[in-house]
This record gives sequence, C-alpha cells and structure tokens, in this order.
Amino acid sequence: MAFSSSQGRDMERRQESRAGPRALAGNPQLCEGAVPRVAKQEQEKLSGVVKSVHRSLRKQYLEDGNFDKVWNQHCKDERKLGEYACAMKSLADNYWTKKCEGQSRIEWCLGVCRDYFFNGGKRKIIEKDARRAVLNSTFPLNYDEVLMSLNQNKEFHHSGKMRLLDVGSCYNPFLKYEDILAVGIDIVPAVETVHRCDFLNLQIRQPLQLAPEAVDIFLKNLRSPIESLHSELFDVVVFSLLLSYFPSRYQRWLCCKKAHELLALNGLLLIITPDSSHQNRHALMMKSWKIAIESLGFKRMIYSKFAHMHLMAFRKTSLKTTCDLITRNYPDMLYIPQDFNFMSEKGYSRTSYVRSERENEQLACTFSELPGGPFESDSRAGQTSTKSFYEFEEPILLMN
Ligand SMILES: C[S@@+](CC[C@H](N)C(=O)[O-])C[C@H]1O[C@@H](n2cnc3c(N)ncnc32)[C@H](O)[C@@H]1O
Repeated sequence: MAFSSSQGRDMERRQESRAGPRALAGNPQLCEGAVPRVAKQEQEKLSGVVKSVHRSLRKQYLEDGNFDKVWNQHCKDERKLGEYACAMKSLADNYWTKKCEGQSRIEWCLGVCRDYFFNGGKRKIIEKDARRAVLNSTFPLNYDEVLMSLNQNKEFHHSGKMRLLDVGSCYNPFLKYEDILAVGIDIVPAVETVHRCDFLNLQIRQPLQLAPEAVDIFLKNLRSPIESLHSELFDVVVFSLLLSYFPSRYQRWLCCKKAHELLALNGLLLIITPDSSHQNRHALMMKSWKIAIESLGFKRMIYSKFAHMHLMAFRKTSLKTTCDLITRNYPDMLYIPQDFNFMSEKGYSRTSYVRSERENEQLACTFSELPGGPFESDSRAGQTSTKSFYEFEEPILLMN
C-alpha cells in the first residue's frame, strides 16, 4: 500500500487544487466561527472524508469482531486511505491556522517538551520524586544519590535535540522545529518525510548501544517502511488524535504499551484525544485513562482541556510495566464515547449489532456514574479552553 514519491507529490498537488490555493493557508479568517461559506463547505467536506473512514472502520469491527482481520482489510484500501491522508493534510494546511486548535495542539506539545527538557521541568519533578523517596524510606537514604539514580546518572538539562516519535503523523507537523529530531510515522503518509509504518504491528527490539550522536544519525537515516524500532530510543512519543482512530480499546492499550517501551526513562508520552464537550463531562473517562496508562509505568504530569480535545502528558517513571492484567482489565479502561455512541451514528442499522454482556455492564456502569446521563455526540459545540494543571498526587483507583 505504498505511495511512491511521485504519488505523494501528486497527492499534495491534488489537494491544493481541491481545497483552494495555498494563499488561504495561514489566514485567520479561516478559523472556525469566521470562515467564509465556501471555505466552510470545503472544510466540512474534508472533515466528512475523515469521519467516514473512522465510522466505517468502527462499523466493520463491530460487525466482525476480529480486529486483526478488519485492520488488515482497512490497511489494504489504498484509495480510501489516500483520500483520508489528503483530507487531513488539506485541513492542516488550509484551515487549521495558528489560532485554531489544529496548530495549538502542536504548540501545546512543544511548550510541554521545552519546559520539561530545556527549562528545568524535568529536574524539578525528579527532585520531588527523590524527596518523596527519602521521606517514605524506612532506612536512611542519601538524597543526592537517589536523585541521580532516578535520572540514571544522566544530565538533567537536555543536550542536543529532543528525539520525538510522532505516531499517526500524517503531514509531519513537528519537522520544522529546530530543537526537535522528529520521526513521523503513519500507515499512509501524506508527505514524503513521514515514514510508512503500522505502529500496531511494529516490532520492538533491544535498546541500541550507541553514543548519542550515533543514535541521532541512526534516526535521521531511517527509511520506509519501518517494521521495527529499538526500545528506549525516544525522549517523546506523540499520539495526536491517534487513539480514537481505533475502534478497539485493546489496540489503544497496545499503542500505549509500545510507547512505554520506545521511551527512555523519564521520557514523555503526549496524548491528544478529541472531545468537544465540557471538561467535566467525561472526567470519569479521563480518570479511567489515567489509571490504565499509569499502570504501564507512567505518571500523568499534565492535563489540559481545550474546546475540542483533551491533552495529557505522561512521564515514564519506571522501566518495567507494573500492570497486572489478571486482576484488572486495564485495556478496557481506555474507552471513548464513540464505543457506546456508534448505534446512533448516521448510516448504521440498529439491528445489525448486538452488544455483549460485558459491554452492557460497562455501559450501565459508565452512564450511572456520569453527570447528565448518556454521552452526547462528540460534535457538540466546544466550550472555552481551560488552563492545564501539573499533578503530583497518587492515582485514584476507581473501577474494579
Ligand atoms: C486523525 S489523524 C491525526 C493526524 C495528526 N496526528 C494530527 O494530529 O492532525 C490519525 C492518523 O493516524 C494514522 N494511523 C492510524 N493508525 C495507525 C497505525 N497503526 N500506525 C501508524 N499510523 C496510524 C492515520 O493514518 C492518520 O493519519
């Protein structure tokens, strides 16, 4: 399902002619709420292409139940995925300008990474962990030694570029930043600089034993398609609008587990997931995600809510995964409203899907805990963005 270089260029040209001249890009007039009618129609059409791909994958999975089979079929549909990639790129180039959330989610990621790696954030948070470890220890510990060991005796201030893996990168939004060594991967790249790779089927190998400069050269020389990568290779892994692409919670879980393996100790996993409702509406869902992801050996460091998305930064605090899947079904905790909403979506017949008993239980439990009853559609108009908060508290366990 490879798009050759010339196909990639053709795709970019086709997009320009479809979505209007590039002169439109960067025009704040094109932000939601102030878009001229024709541009708005075009934007809706492009969003429609994206949503219909998500919907059809969800529908196939619900009807078949075998995710691997459905996923393989999905990845073979080059025409559909090519259109999807074009639509995403066009939305990014022509409609998501600086003031809109398309660009601001990238800037949020940049801000978090720079504060953490270059402006003392990492040192501060590890110092806090060291103080806590010394206080809670039943035998005397040397604070400086604990501090250094928590950072594997490395420098706190990041030297060189941050190594960032952008999974589901599509159009490589991080490539232009000088302080980032960006590796973009996607099942169907919209630009040539993104490597073709199916993250769900990516093999993870032993860590590379190379000097930092050699690791950078290794990353710069990666070639498509990528079928395997070494563990502990990256400082940052980004899932921007990736997890909601998958109709199965287990696939979301698998992605987080792979991110844990690919990150160096104290590296960051940044997750952005769409949700246009008020911050508190899906608070339970976000807590559920926090518990599930932390069980893999992360600690949530920052949580923000923008009008149309949740943004979270998790720090890898342990080299080992601590989750015990026998006593707790952590993958099931990575649910999204669409897992329950699907039957009310356009074009889906109610008779063709019967919920499992487990799903019924989960649904009842979720709805009873949420204020205001069943989830509304995620397309609800957004509310105002909220400030992010840093957090240090222990995870709260909510579900058995
Ligand atoms: C909604 S788009 C998000 C694009 C971009 N990250 C952004 O924030 O605008 C989701 C992207 O994830 C890609 N994707 C889905 N499953 C993937 C997988 N298993 N491996 C790599 N990329 C995947 C899709 O092809 C698509 O480009």
